[in-house]
Amino acid sequence: MSNTETSPDTLTQQIIDRHDRAMSVNYARYPVAMIRGEGSTLVDASGKEYLDLFAGFGASVLGHCHPDLVATVNDQAQKLWHVGNLFHTEPQTRAAEAISRFGFAGRSFFCHSGADANVGALKLARLHGQKNKGNSTGGRYRVISTLGSFHGRTFGAMEATGQPKVYEGFGPLGPGHVHVKFNDLSAVESAIDDETIAVLVEPIQGEGGVNVPDDGYLAGLRELCDKHDLVLIFDEVWTGVGHTGEYFGHQHWNVTPDVMTLAKGVGGGLPVGVTHVSPKFAELYDWRTHGHAVHATTLGGNCLSMAVTATIFEVLDRDQLVPRAKTLGQQITDRLNRFAESNPTIKAVRGKGLYLGVELDPSASGGRFESGGDVVKACMDRGVLINACQGNVLRIAPALTVEEDVLTRGLDIVEDVLKG
Ligand SMILES: Cc1ncc(COP(=O)(O)O)c(C=O)c1O
Repeated sequence: MSNTETSPDTLTQQIIDRHDRAMSVNYARYPVAMIRGEGSTLVDASGKEYLDLFAGFGASVLGHCHPDLVATVNDQAQKLWHVGNLFHTEPQTRAAEAISRFGFAGRSFFCHSGADANVGALKLARLHGQKNKGNSTGGRYRVISTLGSFHGRTFGAMEATGQPKVYEGFGPLGPGHVHVKFNDLSAVESAIDDETIAVLVEPIQGEGGVNVPDDGYLAGLRELCDKHDLVLIFDEVWTGVGHTGEYFGHQHWNVTPDVMTLAKGVGGGLPVGVTHVSPKFAELYDWRTHGHAVHATTLGGNCLSMAVTATIFEVLDRDQLVPRAKTLGQQITDRLNRFAESNPTIKAVRGKGLYLGVELDPSASGGRFESGGDVVKACMDRGVLINACQGNVLRIAPALTVEEDVLTRGLDIVEDVLKG
């Protein structure tokens, strides 16, 4: 190396030092700076390679720098980036058509994040509650969501989230949110009153620990919402776009919501959020109903992001990646369950497709680890990226394009770390 070149370790440190001086320190980041990615492999500033089994919280659904997405971005970048929603653009319509084709026939509103998409759904529910006041005094507005849920960090999405650590300190909170136990239909039924307007749930609870509901749960919610004229909102920010082995989580149970919210995978690494509304409720957001736009955003639906979203669906379909996720997910689940038979550090393996949670029992590790975070760190040291939530639940959610040998080598290391 010449005197003018920066050594890899120095480069990492420089990036961290500059971060520490310039950035708001909202995140507890690892002392690693990622600089390159291809498929399910990442490379950091020191040249170390990682097998990525978490894909940036599942968002890099086609892996890093997928050639079709790179080509799409390059092509679109030379045509048009952004004009605002006073005009029609073809990529936006193409993305919306794909969501209706692979999900359910509806109308998509595009925004930037999961929180944003949920706010769109909550506001739509309020419009329904103002129009259909029922026995309420000033219009129905209360939303039932579940304990342990996560719906985002904006006002509205934050209050809907069933985890106090997300909203504590930010009071006064917006009114009208009640949280009930996940996977408990009678808890939802008891919480419905004259003011209730919507039920908001994740088909599989993600940040809460990858909790899969009983088979009748979503259908039961559908029945309750129909009976009480409530808007059924499925937050599919994690479960959307193929990770669970169906395009959307609700398809596992064949239950169609009134509104589905998307983010993460639907942008493939770009900031895309979607509030997808069934025809029954679509007129609530139709500007002609109100004489002006009641919900809008400047950059939502920009051409670059939308071209990427449309291509993601094309590639998922062309390469049959969703059924592949189902098959691979079953193989991993079987493998981890076999491992658990002789290794009591694993209490349960949950999830569907390539969205899996592995609940640990650190007390069975003989003091080798105290939490899921310790296991994540040990895996990272050995070049494998996974995640932990709720303290002891490991999350595995690789890209749907993950190479089989990457999966095998990655899981070998995860099991090695658990064995000690
Ligand atoms: C189910 C669910 N909904 C909403 C969100 C919020 O998404 P975003 O971080 O894009 O605002 C998340 C983020 O993890 C999520 O898991």
